Amino acid sequence: MATDIADYIRRLPKAELHIHIEGSLEPELMFSLAAKHGIKLPYADVEAVRRAYEFHNLQEFLDIYYAGAAVLVERSDFRDLMFAYLKRAHADGVVHSEIFFDPQTHTARGISTGTVIQGLTDGMAEGKRAFGITSELILCFLRHLSEEEAFKTLELAMPYRRLFIGVGLDSSEVGHPPAKFERVFARARELGLRVVAHAGEEGPPAYVTEALDLLKTERIDHGVRSEADPALCKRLAKMQMPLTVCPLSNVKLAVFKKASDHNLKRLMDLGLMVTVNSDDPAYFGGYMQDNFMAMAEGLKLTSAELKTLAANSITASFLPEPAKKQWLARIEGVAA
Ligand code: ADE
Ligand code: ZN
Repeated sequence: MATDIADYIRRLPKAELHIHIEGSLEPELMFSLAAKHGIKLPYADVEAVRRAYEFHNLQEFLDIYYAGAAVLVERSDFRDLMFAYLKRAHADGVVHSEIFFDPQTHTARGISTGTVIQGLTDGMAEGKRAFGITSELILCFLRHLSEEEAFKTLELAMPYRRLFIGVGLDSSEVGHPPAKFERVFARARELGLRVVAHAGEEGPPAYVTEALDLLKTERIDHGVRSEADPALCKRLAKMQMPLTVCPLSNVKLAVFKKASDHNLKRLMDLGLMVTVNSDDPAYFGGYMQDNFMAMAEGLKLTSAELKTLAANSITASFLPEPAKKQWLARIEGVAA
């Protein structure tokens, strides 16, 4: 019997490769942590927070997102945040997640790198126990700050080196090209860290080229603006360079007007290795299921295309090869 598309998507095992843990802070948890720490929020209630989530570009979102993170103070707060995300991701059929965190957002407020990483790791261990979901951490440098500050951030994280697998680059893109971080990424690679970077979200295709050539990234986060450069698209397709695309984020931040305008299918049709992700689900109106549904309905994706997206997420992950093989076989066996 044919099942509905929502059920099919949920049954496909998926990896999430582009999620900022601070972006999974739901207003309810924000309020309960604010009360716990005696922090006054600039919102009357949870509904007022949700009403404030109207953005016209990346910077408008980032200003609100960094302010919200101020309620994260103790190790257990980071644990609670992580556990809540993994529970939600598991409900959407996510079996593995590679999760960004922004240490500089917290160290700037006097919270130690150890508090952040250990709290997140506590939540990951609990998520594994409760739901069987596997996860890894990726430390992101804030690109609106200097490379020197990025080096300092990496150094502060070194006592916890075994607790994160890679580094990334996020925050305000335009005016802060990948070239600014060439040396710190070279250092991260020397340390055996995996490397990814946001590029081509609001920034030009040239930033994607820089991420590849100067940072030597293994995935491009977003990358949707690559479409404006056909030669770059050819190159990305040939390399099978994964793009971690975030459909609802792109609509909320006005990269595309509406879901049906999104270029995800056009990029797939050009042969690029595209994945679907949630970016900052508490701010953009949805987790993995909602992002897949927006594309399935908005772009009329077939069940075969949805299966390809799920398989791409596993292929593009940093899971060990045997685990990839197992999940790919499981995906293959999911009936539409
Ligand atoms: N930090 C959190 N979400 C982000 C995004 N979509 N782009 C850049 N930096 C971010
Ligand atoms: Zn992002």
